[in-house]
Amino acid sequence: MTEISQRPIGVFDSGIGGLTVVHELLKQVPAESIVYFGDTARVPYGTKSAEAVRRFALQDAAFLAGHGVKMIVVACHTASSAALGLLDGRFSFPVLGVTEPGVQAALRKTTGGRIGVIGTRGTVQSGIYVRSLTEKNRQIQVWAQACPLFVPLAEEGWLDGDVTREIARIYLEPMIQAEVDTLILACTHYPLLKNVIAQVMGDSVQLIDSAEETARVVKQCLDTNMIASPGTNPAGHRFYVSDIPIQFQEVGERFLGRKLGSVQQVDIESIRIDEPD
Ligand code: DGL
Repeated sequence: MTEISQRPIGVFDSGIGGLTVVHELLKQVPAESIVYFGDTARVPYGTKSAEAVRRFALQDAAFLAGHGVKMIVVACHTASSAALGLLDGRFSFPVLGVTEPGVQAALRKTTGGRIGVIGTRGTVQSGIYVRSLTEKNRQIQVWAQACPLFVPLAEEGWLDGDVTREIARIYLEPMIQAEVDTLILACTHYPLLKNVIAQVMGDSVQLIDSAEETARVVKQCLDTNMIASPGTNPAGHRFYVSDIPIQFQEVGERFLGRKLGSVQQVDIESIRIDEPD
């Protein structure tokens, strides 16, 4: 056991959505303490340029590094798509994203090599899923679709009902036409809409919950690097946001599935981006 193993895991997202990843981490690595940063002042990332998202992600990661974390999980798909390459290798600890765990799970589970990906515009435009899936297996066919309205629907708690089902039907029609057998939920918010998405896609389509898959990869990474927490209970979780915390606290509890505790506001724009270690 080393001193490093006792440090927290840092998790960041553009806002609230990354709490779906924290929810899975609390289930799969319950002994770990978490420091979470949600960039609520600059959300959404999904509609911003890749260049802007890269700058935000560098600041978010630098903020967490300042909290002595032993690993960073980039819980935001848009930030993972745009900035993981930039963050990976920049610090003396591992930086994991949410893209590869979803890709690996889809490749394991696909039955006919027809994979759909749904996410923000930024994630879809980055082309990262199509590239990663087809690089690993040239036989795979991929269809990608941006579903921007899913984010506000999840935040408003419209997780079911006619309006949400109709929007899902419109967005997912190309996936149904393409007869995908596997669909990657490539956005932090989509696990909340899993029931509606499953109803629209039908029983034969497997949904890949990237939050679940990412938590599995985090657990493996902790074990491989021998940095898993030695205790059985976390020392405590801390939540930071870049805008006033009220909304984050209220909506966040739905995303996390439990009480959040105190949430502190920080000035993320003042974080300096240092050269890589
Ligand atoms: N967290 C973002 C993602 O997973 C969704 C919200 C946003 O656009 O910032 O891509």
